[in-house]
Amino acid sequence: MRKPFVAGNWKMNMDGESSIALVKGIAAELDGDIRERVDVAVCPPFVYLAEVVSAARSTGIAVGAQDLYFEKNGAFTGEISTAMLKDVGCNYVLCGHSERRHVIGETDELINKKVTAAISGGLLPILCVGELLEQRDAGKTEEVVEKQIRAGLAGLNEARAMAVTIAYEPVWAIGTGRNATPQQAQEVHAMIRGLLAEMYGQKLAEQTRIQYGGSAKPDNAGELLRQPDIDGLLVGGASLKADSFAAIFRSV
Ligand code: 13P
Repeated sequence: MRKPFVAGNWKMNMDGESSIALVKGIAAELDGDIRERVDVAVCPPFVYLAEVVSAARSTGIAVGAQDLYFEKNGAFTGEISTAMLKDVGCNYVLCGHSERRHVIGETDELINKKVTAAISGGLLPILCVGELLEQRDAGKTEEVVEKQIRAGLAGLNEARAMAVTIAYEPVWAIGTGRNATPQQAQEVHAMIRGLLAEMYGQKLAEQTRIQYGGSAKPDNAGELLRQPDIDGLLVGGASLKADSFAAIFRSV
């Protein structure tokens, strides 16, 4: 049985004070048996990671970074390594988020290096995939998502691939207020699980959590999470307020 996993991607938002307040607000909502029923993580900007980790201690909230660089150390100005993220207490890291692919220009090859480095360094990567609107309209959703997953996981054996969470985030649904319908999302999630079974076998496919992301909100979270292959949500805008984020993870 896959435990639902809801993560908040804060993107380039918040400041030090509001970050701590948000973590405290989320912690207050993560009480009682809800902690046993859902894994909750937040992904703040790099500069607030250390203080968020410290505020999240003993609350049940895990902390993830939004990105990493695959090299161990050296002359890579502005970049952050896996070891640094471990050092400040991160558990998770987003790899290949749509904005990194389409705004910053990251390639599948670079994303694969990041996923690989994250696992080698003991972090749990969340590999983000998803099609553009024109790709969906051209009937290419499956092709695009399959390519991103095959490339993102290239070279990983089953034991290492077990560490990965997949996040399906159709680009046209991110920050637009237009979420994929539960049926549209379920269709792609089922395809992804089938692909994982083909690549790694049934056991990995059944254990891997696949999150949906793209305008997830309190009023659509329940219906999305009821789909058999949707195991959680990766939430942007609605994760920036404790009440809306809590309403989302409480809807599991
Ligand atoms: P929104 O929830 O703001 O659409 O963002 C989704 C996302 O990109 C999470 O990583």
